[in-house]
Amino acid sequence: MKKSSVEDIRSRFDKDVERFSNLDTGQVATVDAVISLEMITDAAKALQPNAKKILDLGCGAGNYTLKLLSKMGNLDCTLIDLSGPMLERAKQRVAEKTLGKIEVIQGDIREIELPKEKFDVIMAGAVLHHLREEEEWELVFTKLYDSLNQGGGLYISDLILQESPRITDLVWDKYRAYLASIGGNDYAEKVLAYIELEDSPRSINFQLNLMQKVGFTTTEVFHKNLCFGAFGGIK
Ligand SMILES: C[S@@+](CC[C@H](N)C(=O)[O-])C[C@H]1O[C@@H](n2cnc3c(N)ncnc32)[C@H](O)[C@@H]1O
Repeated sequence: MKKSSVEDIRSRFDKDVERFSNLDTGQVATVDAVISLEMITDAAKALQPNAKKILDLGCGAGNYTLKLLSKMGNLDCTLIDLSGPMLERAKQRVAEKTLGKIEVIQGDIREIELPKEKFDVIMAGAVLHHLREEEEWELVFTKLYDSLNQGGGLYISDLILQESPRITDLVWDKYRAYLASIGGNDYAEKVLAYIELEDSPRSINFQLNLMQKVGFTTTEVFHKNLCFGAFGGIK
């Protein structure tokens, strides 16, 4: 099936700001959204306690940055997203919670040039699954690695596949049941059809191996439930 283009993805998220603006519940279609948000930000605080500059990639309305600010106080925040309306909302919400500098960059992460050795923490929440070919994943992981300071951390929370297609099928069946339990069968089918059209997730192993290939010294899984995982690497 032909997947959505970057332009399709941008225009869909332009219209979806409200759904990504709830810090308490996160995304209900994401299993354990709240646990992943807590784990990623707790891990960043534990591993980079003196962080000053952070990057939120695919920031949406800014939930990951807001959660980290609630634990670590004032930080300089760089917010990247394809969607202008998402960035506008994120900037407004983040400005209420930090006295640090806020930089906003609109664009596709494949094309954005990042400064070298600038960030202590990079968070990428539910965004990397929009990457398609393996070369794009490697390009982006290399770019993120290069932009981290030594000792900095990359934190990913995302939709994932399993290694074996049979287990992937098993997990998707359980995810379908989870979606049906919160919104009924039609809702479940709608979410799954949308994933089929728009997303191209990879397994946790694929991403951890790629992190090691591009130079990360330590990789870590923080949480996993069905087709969602939270994991990362330290430079
Ligand atoms: C599912 S939302 C997640 C938002 C936020 N991280 C959260 O967890 O609440 C994904 C966001 O990534 C952005 N995005 C998708 N593809 C992107 C790309 N190639 N470069 C930059 N941002 C992208 C979308 O515009 C959207 O706001």
